[in-house]
Amino acid sequence: MSVPRRLFVTTALPYANGNFHIGHIMEYIQADIWVRYQRMQGAEVNFVGADDAHGAPIMIAAEKAGKTPQQFVADIAAGRKPYLDGFHIAFDNWHSTDGPENHALARQIYLDLKKAGLIATRVVEQFFDPEKNMFLPDRFIKGECPNCHAKDQYGDNCEVCGAVYAPTDLIKPYSALSGVTPVLKSSEHFFFQLSDPRCVKFLEDWVQGNDDMDGKPRLQPEVVNKVKEWFSVRTHPDGSTSEGLGDWDISRDAPYFGIEIPDAPGKYFYVWLDAPIGYLASLKNLLEKRGQSYDDYMADPALEQYHFIGKDIVTFHTLFWPAMLHFSGRKTPNKVFVHGFLTVNNGEKMSKSRGTGLDPLKYLSLGMNPEWLRYYLAAKLNGRNEDIDFNADDFMARVNSDLIGKYINIASRAAGFISKRFGGKLGTPGDDGSTLLQLLRNETPVIAQAYDARDTARVTRTAMYLADRVNEYVDANKPWELAKKEGAEARLHDVCTVCIEAFRLLTLYLKPVLPALAASVESFLNIAPLSFADAARPLGTGHVIGNYKHLMQRVDVKQLDALFEAPALAEPEQSATESVVPGGEALAPMIGIDDFARIDLRIAKIVHCEAVEGSTKLLRLTLDVGEGVDPQGSPILRNVFSGIAGAYKPQDLIGQLTVMVANLAPRKMKFGVSEGMVLAASHFDEKKQPGIYVLHPWAGAQPGLRVR
Ligand code: MSP
Ligand code: ZN
Repeated sequence: MSVPRRLFVTTALPYANGNFHIGHIMEYIQADIWVRYQRMQGAEVNFVGADDAHGAPIMIAAEKAGKTPQQFVADIAAGRKPYLDGFHIAFDNWHSTDGPENHALARQIYLDLKKAGLIATRVVEQFFDPEKNMFLPDRFIKGECPNCHAKDQYGDNCEVCGAVYAPTDLIKPYSALSGVTPVLKSSEHFFFQLSDPRCVKFLEDWVQGNDDMDGKPRLQPEVVNKVKEWFSVRTHPDGSTSEGLGDWDISRDAPYFGIEIPDAPGKYFYVWLDAPIGYLASLKNLLEKRGQSYDDYMADPALEQYHFIGKDIVTFHTLFWPAMLHFSGRKTPNKVFVHGFLTVNNGEKMSKSRGTGLDPLKYLSLGMNPEWLRYYLAAKLNGRNEDIDFNADDFMARVNSDLIGKYINIASRAAGFISKRFGGKLGTPGDDGSTLLQLLRNETPVIAQAYDARDTARVTRTAMYLADRVNEYVDANKPWELAKKEGAEARLHDVCTVCIEAFRLLTLYLKPVLPALAASVESFLNIAPLSFADAARPLGTGHVIGNYKHLMQRVDVKQLDALFEAPALAEPEQSATESVVPGGEALAPMIGIDDFARIDLRIAKIVHCEAVEGSTKLLRLTLDVGEGVDPQGSPILRNVFSGIAGAYKPQDLIGQLTVMVANLAPRKMKFGVSEGMVLAASHFDEKKQPGIYVLHPWAGAQPGLRVR
């Protein structure tokens, strides 16, 4: 007996500031399939995850929610289980980077790096919010883009023109937390000296090198190419560039939700320093719960360590992380597996904060089978870091035609005859059936290799190719006709036995993707849990199988329609009755307070109003939004067109107050430029329910006041 491989496998630790979205679930499904495959090959795997709890954004979100950061992340953690269980994602442990193991490990690794002479301190000048009394992370500084002059851009890059710059380059910077103008303040920061020649040499070798366990490259070729760019050019915060790796700023000043740096009161590790250490912390937590020694486990030279991550966090995992591990005297990862991004129905890349086009819990609550999604994603993922798209039509075709039409149907076509005609007993395959089964078995190494390389697209392609061959065999032999034919009993037994054995093999091949289905099949076939070695061990003549029960439902197009329907007002009590659609349209997708804050609503006084010649719908409004006077002394007013002529006469509106969107980009219309929009309510279908109602503030409101 050979010694089983020992694997330590992780997925990226999700920020604990929101629920899982479908992109997270994709990563976990990919890793879970790989882990299940390795276990079917006899490997001993510890597969762990954790919440990434630290950092300024979470601290600020917690404050807004009126919770302590600890309470905030605990509430997020409490919501993880339904997603993981629901999609059969079998982590051995789920922990938090705020756990005691991570605090201890992060400090120790830091001290080890310091001992290695790789920690330096330097004074850094940064924006500071004098009202909030804190240094501002780049994302919380906003201002005008120095390149294209777009307003309200983030401190690190412009979403309008794509320019990358330092926060200090912003024109009229302001704090997104308090609105005040930040001041420059200096403070001592700690750096991990990646520019040290030892680090550079080590990383250049590591990134391009081979895993010494299997002799294959540690990183995918497309990843190596990307990472190599980091060695040659680097852009400094001040915009200058230089050769080689820059040092990495690993400290942040209080107030910060994180791990305090030893002997440096008020200084905390930057979240990305302690986040990957959370992999080790979750493993340690798991082993200690089992009474095993973490140190012994990690000291085993045969231990293999693998990280599944998305393409956006490559540098952290292929530069900073290996360097942290190596120079603190620890084992570096054997491989880092990088996947691309999932989009939904050709949608834009799902934003981390704005969430999703496909809500995983909604999917489950509609009674959609989690293994449909596992199969679909497996069929799309090929082990490279390309983006993939969830497409509803494609999903339905792959599940209904391939998974069910080709594979599941094999069992339903043969099982009934075996139970009814042969008492559940299998017979002996004839020559043609044996040849077919040999064809299936010959693919075992191909399937195994594809799983190992995370090329599950190849796995499903191969399995469907084989299922086609089996169905051809069924169609050629027509068991339903054999069943009626005198003297064809033996042939019927033979053909159905071949089908059952073929179905067993295909089930084995797909088991990492379809674990729950495989369990039902194992119980139907009356067999022990399938491992890869069982491919070469066919069910013998005389083996008794159980009764066939329906194994899997088809996707109903109504389920997909419901899945992508915009969320309506979810009143649980109403779900039994017909759902109410307020105002004739479903509510728009959920937004965060930040999204709302981007819309600047102001009280406006309608100083003038007139009909628009040539239009029966529009009125021209002249609005005072409290913007004062121009250098010539004339009041600054806005010209706005509004489609309310059917409901109001100009003289009824003059002198009234209303609400306008004051930061809407000016729009050129046939009759002139419209510089904003007044707010009015109406039914979605004006024919069903006519009427337009302009908003009107309560008495006392003044032009220019913000509506929030
Ligand atoms: N907290 C960091 C990771 C720390 S690891 C020590 C983080 N969190 S995240 O929640 O933003 O992302 C977690 C993982 O989800 C990353 O691997 C990321 O690439 C992946 N995905 C986020 N959106 C995704 C898609 N739309 N599609 C596929 N994966 C995506 O980054
Ligand atoms: Zn710009």
